[in-house]
Amino acid sequence: MENKSRGSFSGNLGFILAAVGSAVGLGNLWGFPYKMGANGGLPFLLIYLAFVVLCGVVVMAVEMAFGRKTGKSPVLALSSLGKKYAVIGWFGVLSATIIMGFYTMLVGYAVRYMAGFFIQIFGADGFGGMGGTDFFIAFTCKPWMVLLFTVISFAVCYVIVAGGVDKGIEKFNKIGIPALFVILVAIAIYNFTLPGAVGGLEFMFTTKGMDVLGTKFNFFNACRTAAGQMLFSCSLGMGIMITYGSYMKKDANISKNAWIIPAADTMAALLAGLAIFPAVFAQGQAPNGGPGLLFMTMHDTFTSMGWIGNVVGFLFYALVIFAGMSSCISLMEVTVSHVIDHRESKGKPISRKVAVIVVVAIMFVLSIPVCLDQLGMGSIIPPFYNSFMADGAKDLLDVYDLITEGIMMPLAAILICVVVGWKLGMPWLTSEIEENGNKFYCKKFFEICVKYVTPLLMVFVFISLALSYLNV
Ligand code: PHE
Repeated sequence: MENKSRGSFSGNLGFILAAVGSAVGLGNLWGFPYKMGANGGLPFLLIYLAFVVLCGVVVMAVEMAFGRKTGKSPVLALSSLGKKYAVIGWFGVLSATIIMGFYTMLVGYAVRYMAGFFIQIFGADGFGGMGGTDFFIAFTCKPWMVLLFTVISFAVCYVIVAGGVDKGIEKFNKIGIPALFVILVAIAIYNFTLPGAVGGLEFMFTTKGMDVLGTKFNFFNACRTAAGQMLFSCSLGMGIMITYGSYMKKDANISKNAWIIPAADTMAALLAGLAIFPAVFAQGQAPNGGPGLLFMTMHDTFTSMGWIGNVVGFLFYALVIFAGMSSCISLMEVTVSHVIDHRESKGKPISRKVAVIVVVAIMFVLSIPVCLDQLGMGSIIPPFYNSFMADGAKDLLDVYDLITEGIMMPLAAILICVVVGWKLGMPWLTSEIEENGNKFYCKKFFEICVKYVTPLLMVFVFISLALSYLNV
């Protein structure tokens, strides 16, 4: 009997928008443009594109094929090959759950900033008269405030995911993703009208970025930065594309989708740079990355634009919310679909709503220490991680990030490639991709990559990322 709680996308457009929604997130906004500037500009872009093509597209196709073939969430999809393969699925489910422990909080921050700029449009004071840094510290050091906004973003996630795959997730992304691209382009165009904007372009695309930041080009470093960023940005190695793939119709062309999604993600990352750095330079702010860029630097950037800055700021944080929320719901769906499938397999089915409540509760508990940690500023947890993380690590968010992005995600990506390349083989992949008479684009390319190129490159990424995180 069909499992009613599972659901499916209504068509390929719904699937693509949801997958792009998952891929385009905070990583595109605060990670890619800054990393590009810090690592040589155009050469970094080329290295990044090489990883997208040689690893991203391949792992994306393999994950989608796995999901669609089995029609299951990651753990059950993989354990259909044998008990020991379940661990690969578990890496995904655990990564998704842990990442939600900080991702929702960050979307909560964006809600606070959007509200602040919104009321400033009408002349009220949205940030207690404080500048970027002061407000950020004041806000994050009020843990109850942060918890409140985190609860708000969990509540929105709940409503969307509990709505189901087609009526919740697909519906949100069908509005959110086009809106996201429209806002991105609108802000980027506005930025070009600002005097001094060219500094932002030079930062991203030329070696000026390294001059500004005092960094030096190092090929090895650029490779591992690009590869880690690519995995995170394309939402790979955490079962998202397996889960979404399991809701995909048989007539969708996997080998085509596997190019479209990373291409849209890379375009969004480049546009994000154009929506951020020209404004930062035009307003004489210093470029940076991570939460500091999104919440302190951009706040100051919009404030120094005068009244219009409130409108641009409001739109910008709406954009952050669309990007972050569409990623949050994909992360939540991985764990929700696991719970639904698991209960079904035990002969004790539960409704989607109950599954979502259970998952939200677990994820919320994981997010509480991160909210209280205040990005390390008023840490309530003993900074045990200082001893083993590089650069005298900073906060609990970094620890969550190490466990997921640094260890479980690359491992899952390597293992799933090896399983498909070496255990199941090309005929398995071909039969799923050519299902329903679909054309298998670039078949030879996939054949070589899935067996040799992708796993080898991913092993390199895994070892070098682990070394960069750890104090060795
Ligand atoms: N891809 C999202 C981003 O770029 C983040 C994300 C990672 C979402 C992993 C889901 C899974 O921010």
